[in-house]
Amino acid sequence: MRLSFDEQGTGPVVVLLHGFPLDRTMWSSQLGMLSNHHRVIAPDLRGHGQSPTPPGPYRMEDMAADVIETLDAARVEPPYVVGGLSMGGYVALAMAERYPDRLRGLILLNTRAGADSPEAAANREAKATALEQEGSTESLAAMVELLIPETTRNSRPELVDQVVAMIRQTSPIGAAGALRGMAMRPDRLDVLRRLAVPLRVIAGADDAIVPEAEAQVMAEATPQGDLIVIPGAGHLTPLETPGATNTAIRSFLERLT
Ligand code: MLT
Repeated sequence: MRLSFDEQGTGPVVVLLHGFPLDRTMWSSQLGMLSNHHRVIAPDLRGHGQSPTPPGPYRMEDMAADVIETLDAARVEPPYVVGGLSMGGYVALAMAERYPDRLRGLILLNTRAGADSPEAAANREAKATALEQEGSTESLAAMVELLIPETTRNSRPELVDQVVAMIRQTSPIGAAGALRGMAMRPDRLDVLRRLAVPLRVIAGADDAIVPEAEAQVMAEATPQGDLIVIPGAGHLTPLETPGATNTAIRSFLERLT
Protein backbone atom coordinates (compact mmCIF):
# COMPACT_ATOMS: atom_id res chain seq x y z
CA MET A 1 0.00 0.00 0.00
CA ARG A 2 1.32 3.44 -0.93
CA LEU A 3 1.49 5.92 1.93
CA SER A 4 1.28 9.71 2.09
CA PHE A 5 4.55 11.27 3.15
CA ASP A 6 6.43 14.53 3.67
CA GLU A 7 9.98 14.98 2.60
CA GLN A 8 12.60 17.69 2.87
CA GLY A 9 16.26 18.12 1.93
CA THR A 10 18.77 16.27 -0.21
CA GLY A 11 21.52 13.82 0.69
CA PRO A 12 21.58 10.45 2.45
CA VAL A 13 18.03 9.32 3.23
CA VAL A 14 16.54 9.18 6.72
CA VAL A 15 13.04 7.67 7.07
CA LEU A 16 11.10 8.55 10.24
CA LEU A 17 8.11 6.49 11.43
CA HIS A 18 5.60 8.01 13.85
CA GLY A 19 4.02 6.54 16.97
CA PHE A 20 0.43 5.52 17.80
CA PRO A 21 -2.09 7.14 17.32
CA LEU A 22 -0.24 10.04 15.79
CA ASP A 23 0.90 11.00 12.30
CA ARG A 24 3.86 12.26 10.30
CA THR A 25 3.47 15.84 11.53
CA MET A 26 5.09 14.77 14.80
CA TRP A 27 8.43 14.91 12.92
CA SER A 28 8.15 18.52 11.70
CA SER A 29 11.14 19.72 13.80
CA GLN A 30 13.25 16.85 12.52
CA LEU A 31 12.31 17.61 8.90
CA GLY A 32 13.34 21.21 9.49
CA MET A 33 16.56 20.57 11.39
CA LEU A 34 17.98 17.43 9.77
CA SER A 35 17.30 18.38 6.16
CA ASN A 36 20.42 20.58 5.84
CA HIS A 37 22.46 17.49 5.07
CA HIS A 38 19.88 14.74 4.61
CA ARG A 39 16.77 13.86 2.66
CA VAL A 40 14.27 13.29 5.45
CA ILE A 41 11.11 11.30 4.62
CA ALA A 42 8.21 10.94 7.06
CA PRO A 43 5.25 8.77 5.98
CA ASP A 44 1.84 8.38 7.60
CA LEU A 45 1.56 4.70 8.49
CA ARG A 46 -1.61 2.94 7.28
CA GLY A 47 -4.71 3.96 9.21
CA HIS A 48 -3.08 7.23 10.30
CA GLY A 49 -2.86 10.79 8.93
CA GLN A 50 -3.58 10.98 5.22
CA SER A 51 -2.69 7.39 4.34
CA PRO A 52 -5.36 4.81 3.42
CA THR A 53 -7.28 3.08 6.21
CA PRO A 54 -7.92 -0.56 5.23
CA PRO A 55 -9.62 -2.96 7.67
CA GLY A 56 -7.25 -4.20 10.40
CA PRO A 57 -5.40 -5.76 12.00
CA TYR A 58 -2.27 -3.94 10.84
CA ARG A 59 0.62 -6.28 11.53
CA MET A 60 3.94 -4.50 11.97
CA GLU A 61 5.28 -6.40 8.96
CA ASP A 62 2.36 -5.11 6.83
CA MET A 63 3.22 -1.56 7.86
CA ALA A 64 6.91 -2.25 7.10
CA ALA A 65 5.95 -3.53 3.62
CA ASP A 66 3.93 -0.33 3.05
CA VAL A 67 6.98 1.79 3.86
CA ILE A 68 9.17 -0.21 1.46
CA GLU A 69 6.53 -0.04 -1.31
CA THR A 70 6.22 3.72 -0.82
CA LEU A 71 9.99 4.30 -0.91
CA ASP A 72 10.39 2.10 -3.99
CA ALA A 73 7.56 3.91 -5.76
CA ALA A 74 9.30 7.22 -4.99
CA ARG A 75 12.55 5.74 -6.36
CA VAL A 76 14.36 6.23 -3.06
CA GLU A 77 17.63 4.32 -3.34
CA PRO A 78 18.51 2.05 -0.43
CA PRO A 79 20.28 1.78 1.90
CA TYR A 80 18.66 4.33 4.20
CA VAL A 81 18.60 5.09 7.90
CA VAL A 82 15.27 4.18 9.47
CA GLY A 83 14.10 5.75 12.72
CA GLY A 84 10.89 4.88 14.52
CA LEU A 85 9.20 6.09 17.68
CA SER A 86 7.26 3.59 19.78
CA MET A 87 4.87 1.89 17.30
CA GLY A 88 7.08 3.33 14.54
CA GLY A 89 9.96 1.55 16.29
CA TYR A 90 8.05 -1.74 16.14
CA VAL A 91 7.65 -1.15 12.40
CA ALA A 92 11.35 -0.23 12.05
CA LEU A 93 12.24 -3.52 13.78
CA ALA A 94 10.00 -5.40 11.34
CA MET A 95 11.83 -3.62 8.49
CA ALA A 96 15.19 -4.67 9.99
CA GLU A 97 13.93 -8.25 10.15
CA ARG A 98 12.36 -8.46 6.69
CA TYR A 99 14.53 -6.07 4.66
CA PRO A 100 17.96 -6.00 6.35
CA ASP A 101 19.74 -5.02 3.12
CA ARG A 102 17.72 -1.81 2.91
CA LEU A 103 19.13 -0.40 6.15
CA ARG A 104 22.19 1.77 6.68
CA GLY A 105 21.43 2.38 10.32
CA LEU A 106 18.57 2.07 12.80
CA ILE A 107 17.29 4.61 15.33
CA LEU A 108 14.82 3.40 17.94
CA LEU A 109 13.13 6.11 19.98
CA ASN A 110 10.94 5.52 23.04
CA THR A 111 10.24 1.96 22.01
CA ARG A 112 10.81 -1.65 22.99
CA ALA A 113 11.79 -4.89 21.25
CA GLY A 114 9.62 -7.15 23.45
CA ALA A 115 6.14 -8.48 22.69
CA ASP A 116 2.98 -7.56 24.62
CA SER A 117 2.16 -9.53 27.74
CA PRO A 118 -1.15 -11.45 27.45
CA GLU A 119 -2.75 -8.76 29.68
CA ALA A 120 -1.46 -5.92 27.49
CA ALA A 121 -2.70 -7.69 24.35
CA ALA A 122 -6.13 -8.23 25.93
CA ASN A 123 -6.28 -4.55 26.92
CA ARG A 124 -5.52 -3.55 23.35
CA GLU A 125 -8.33 -5.78 22.03
CA ALA A 126 -10.78 -4.29 24.54
CA LYS A 127 -9.71 -0.78 23.51
CA ALA A 128 -10.01 -1.62 19.80
CA THR A 129 -13.54 -2.97 20.30
CA ALA A 130 -14.50 0.10 22.33
CA LEU A 131 -13.17 2.48 19.67
CA GLU A 132 -15.18 0.70 16.98
CA GLN A 133 -18.32 0.88 19.11
CA GLU A 134 -17.74 4.54 19.97
CA GLY A 135 -17.01 5.42 16.34
CA SER A 136 -14.44 7.97 17.51
CA THR A 137 -10.94 8.24 18.98
CA GLU A 138 -12.06 10.85 21.52
CA SER A 139 -11.49 8.44 24.41
CA LEU A 140 -7.85 7.99 23.30
CA ALA A 141 -7.16 11.68 23.90
CA ALA A 142 -6.69 10.88 27.61
CA MET A 143 -3.51 9.05 26.53
CA VAL A 144 -1.84 12.45 26.41
CA GLU A 145 -1.27 12.13 30.18
CA LEU A 146 0.91 9.09 29.53
CA LEU A 147 2.59 10.54 26.45
CA ILE A 148 3.63 13.89 27.97
CA PRO A 149 4.84 14.31 31.59
CA GLU A 150 2.88 16.65 33.86
CA THR A 151 5.56 19.36 34.05
CA THR A 152 5.60 19.68 30.26
CA ARG A 153 1.80 19.54 30.06
CA ASN A 154 1.68 22.50 32.43
CA SER A 155 4.44 24.52 30.77
CA ARG A 156 3.51 23.80 27.13
CA PRO A 157 -0.27 23.59 26.71
CA GLU A 158 0.14 24.17 22.95
CA LEU A 159 2.06 20.88 22.71
CA VAL A 160 -0.78 19.08 24.50
CA ASP A 161 -3.25 20.64 22.02
CA GLN A 162 -1.11 19.54 19.06
CA VAL A 163 -0.92 15.93 20.28
CA VAL A 164 -4.61 15.75 21.18
CA ALA A 165 -5.51 17.12 17.73
CA MET A 166 -3.40 14.40 16.09
CA ILE A 167 -5.11 11.71 18.19
CA ARG A 168 -8.61 13.05 17.38
CA GLN A 169 -7.84 13.08 13.66
CA THR A 170 -6.92 9.39 13.68
CA SER A 171 -9.92 7.30 12.68
CA PRO A 172 -11.28 4.66 15.07
CA ILE A 173 -10.85 2.01 12.34
CA GLY A 174 -7.20 2.98 11.91
CA ALA A 175 -6.51 3.06 15.65
CA ALA A 176 -8.24 -0.30 16.18
CA GLY A 177 -6.24 -1.85 13.33
CA ALA A 178 -2.99 -0.61 14.84
CA LEU A 179 -3.90 -1.76 18.37
CA ARG A 180 -4.67 -5.28 17.13
CA GLY A 181 -1.51 -5.34 15.02
CA MET A 182 0.68 -4.22 17.95
CA ALA A 183 -0.87 -6.96 20.10
CA MET A 184 0.18 -9.56 17.50
CA ARG A 185 3.81 -8.51 17.22
CA PRO A 186 6.50 -11.00 18.26
CA ASP A 187 9.54 -10.31 20.43
CA ARG A 188 12.15 -8.89 18.06
CA LEU A 189 15.20 -8.65 20.33
CA ASP A 190 16.81 -11.31 18.13
CA VAL A 191 16.56 -8.93 15.19
CA LEU A 192 18.85 -6.58 17.10
CA ARG A 193 21.22 -9.41 18.00
CA ARG A 194 21.58 -10.11 14.26
CA LEU A 195 21.66 -6.45 13.22
CA ALA A 196 24.57 -5.73 10.86
CA VAL A 197 24.29 -1.91 10.93
CA PRO A 198 24.76 0.66 13.72
CA LEU A 199 21.92 1.21 16.18
CA ARG A 200 21.13 4.27 18.27
CA VAL A 201 18.51 4.00 20.98
CA ILE A 202 16.96 7.23 22.28
CA ALA A 203 14.91 7.22 25.49
CA GLY A 204 13.12 9.84 27.58
CA ALA A 205 14.16 9.75 31.25
CA ASP A 206 10.51 10.36 32.23
CA ASP A 207 8.85 8.06 29.67
CA ALA A 208 5.72 6.64 31.35
CA ILE A 209 5.19 4.01 28.63
CA VAL A 210 8.65 2.53 27.97
CA PRO A 211 10.98 2.17 30.97
CA GLU A 212 14.65 3.06 30.44
CA ALA A 213 15.61 -0.58 31.19
CA GLU A 214 13.93 -1.69 27.95
CA ALA A 215 15.94 0.86 26.00
CA GLN A 216 19.12 -0.40 27.66
CA VAL A 217 18.34 -4.00 26.68
CA MET A 218 17.99 -2.99 23.03
CA ALA A 219 21.19 -0.93 22.98
CA GLU A 220 23.14 -3.80 24.53
CA ALA A 221 21.75 -6.44 22.16
CA THR A 222 24.19 -5.47 19.41
CA PRO A 223 27.87 -4.45 19.56
CA GLN A 224 27.09 -1.49 17.29
CA GLY A 225 24.37 -0.18 19.62
CA ASP A 226 24.35 2.75 22.02
CA LEU A 227 21.82 4.61 24.15
CA ILE A 228 21.12 8.28 24.76
CA VAL A 229 18.71 9.12 27.58
CA ILE A 230 17.22 12.60 27.34
CA PRO A 231 16.62 14.20 30.75
CA GLY A 232 13.21 15.74 31.37
CA ALA A 233 11.62 14.06 28.35
CA GLY A 234 8.68 11.67 28.32
CA HIS A 235 7.46 9.38 25.54
CA LEU A 236 7.49 11.93 22.70
CA THR A 237 11.14 13.04 22.67
CA PRO A 238 11.06 14.52 19.12
CA LEU A 239 8.19 16.82 20.09
CA GLU A 240 9.07 17.51 23.71
CA THR A 241 12.83 17.98 23.42
CA PRO A 242 13.46 18.56 19.69
CA GLY A 243 16.90 20.13 20.24
CA ALA A 244 18.32 17.23 22.28
CA THR A 245 16.60 14.64 20.08
CA ASN A 246 17.93 16.20 16.89
CA THR A 247 21.44 16.34 18.39
CA ALA A 248 21.18 12.63 19.25
CA ILE A 249 19.97 11.78 15.74
CA ARG A 250 22.50 14.05 14.03
CA SER A 251 25.51 12.70 15.91
CA PHE A 252 24.45 9.18 14.90
CA LEU A 253 24.09 10.21 11.25
CA GLU A 254 27.53 11.84 11.36
CA ARG A 255 28.97 8.60 12.68
CA LEU A 256 27.66 6.83 9.58
CA THR A 257 29.27 9.16 7.05
C1 MLT B 1 3.09 4.51 20.74
O1 MLT B 1 3.44 5.57 21.26
O2 MLT B 1 3.27 4.27 19.54
C2 MLT B 1 2.37 3.50 21.61
O3 MLT B 1 2.39 3.93 22.92
C3 MLT B 1 2.99 2.16 21.47
C4 MLT B 1 2.30 1.11 22.27
O4 MLT B 1 1.12 1.28 22.63
O5 MLT B 1 2.92 0.06 22.53
